[in-house]
Amino acid sequence: MAGSAIGLGNIWRFPYIVGEYGGAAFILIYILSTLIVSLPVFVAEVTVGRRSRKSAYGAMHSLRPGHKVWKFAGFLAVFTPLIINSYYSVIGGWSLDYFLRACTGQFVSVEPSAASGIFGGFISSVWGPIVCHLVFLGICALVVLFGVKSGIEKFSKITIPTLFFLIIAMIVYSVSLPGAMDGVRYLLKPDFSQITPRSFAFALGQSFYSLSLGMGAIITYGSYVSKKEDIVLSGAGTAVSDLLFAILAGFAVMPAVFAAGIAPGAGTGLIFQSIPYVFSSLGQEVPWLSTLFSVVFFLSILMAALTSCISLFEVGVSFLIDRSRWSRPKATLAVFLACGLLGVVCSLSFGPLAHIQISGKAIFDLLDWFSSNILLLLLAFLTVIFVGFALPRQDVYDEITNGGTRPVNVKLFGFIYFLIKWVAPVFIAIIFVTNFIL
Ligand code: TRP
Repeated sequence: MAGSAIGLGNIWRFPYIVGEYGGAAFILIYILSTLIVSLPVFVAEVTVGRRSRKSAYGAMHSLRPGHKVWKFAGFLAVFTPLIINSYYSVIGGWSLDYFLRACTGQFVSVEPSAASGIFGGFISSVWGPIVCHLVFLGICALVVLFGVKSGIEKFSKITIPTLFFLIIAMIVYSVSLPGAMDGVRYLLKPDFSQITPRSFAFALGQSFYSLSLGMGAIITYGSYVSKKEDIVLSGAGTAVSDLLFAILAGFAVMPAVFAAGIAPGAGTGLIFQSIPYVFSSLGQEVPWLSTLFSVVFFLSILMAALTSCISLFEVGVSFLIDRSRWSRPKATLAVFLACGLLGVVCSLSFGPLAHIQISGKAIFDLLDWFSSNILLLLLAFLTVIFVGFALPRQDVYDEITNGGTRPVNVKLFGFIYFLIKWVAPVFIAIIFVTNFIL
């Protein structure tokens, strides 16, 4: 579960959302949302998965047949990952491109002041990003087609810790750059005047996104969790490691952003603009180290993106195989075409289609917003309502306390149940509405 949680959401999305929605003060809201809302949602998702032993599509419906709304929840659990997969693979394509640039030593040869310019030229062009996106998605399709998933997952057991150490190294170096301390201050000194109602919506959306909540992933993983496992402890463990990774990524990126003179609210491309500055600065001093560092760094990001994308891809493919009795190749091709096409449109929205905007958002941002702030919240809401109201209290008690055998969880049960049944749904509902009226 921690492997699923840690990904581009932490490294790419978290820093840019923090920069756009309020810096240190946003991080406080983010931590609070994780504790008060996301953790109960996490526990509820694992409960549904472990109780039903089904993947997300049929889980709730199989526990409480007859109600259409639980079928709708199952539908969301297939639909949302597909949407996310489409634009996630565009970012995956960028990582692929940057990995290749690192291999050819491009970040070393360019002046630090020009390093962030690489990004603007790249994404606004038409073919480069599209080809990278399709190649990236194609790799996922091949993995899903040949079912070599377990090999890739073993690989990610190496890349995630590698990334961890690289990020630490990155923090040490980027903090030493001139002007970087402003970035550290930005992350540590809360300025509540930067907080708007929107910050709350984005904090919760980001928290769900980062923990892979609200899209059936944790329900599905929950169906594999053994009866002996402590759900609350797993949830807390996942949330803490995920949070740690996100905050570390923030400290690796934000000082570089300030040192490079980029606006923290620059949006989706934040890490792709700031990280080359770090490698380029290092390249002026020790070129070989910079090349080595950048190659391994972008390779790890690429792997983190691949593993997540493969899981998201697999959701759609296994759904088509189970429901429509399609063969694996046919299902894989269908998902590839659908996500590929939507991804191409997303990619173009940074260039030729940038003028198409709905309430100030280009297509990419719109999809990112729609899936994280709307779709994830919707399924998470249905899940907590399901566990709070449709499942008998005794069943929930059995899951959370492992049949009364976990003394700490037995003590905490009343509180956790209250969070799931009342606090989480009320918060999610309020924040959901915030998206539309403010
Ligand atoms: N949480 C992942 C991240 O932070 C992204 C993600 C969302 C994911 N849902 C998933 C990964 C399902 C694997 C499976 O990047």
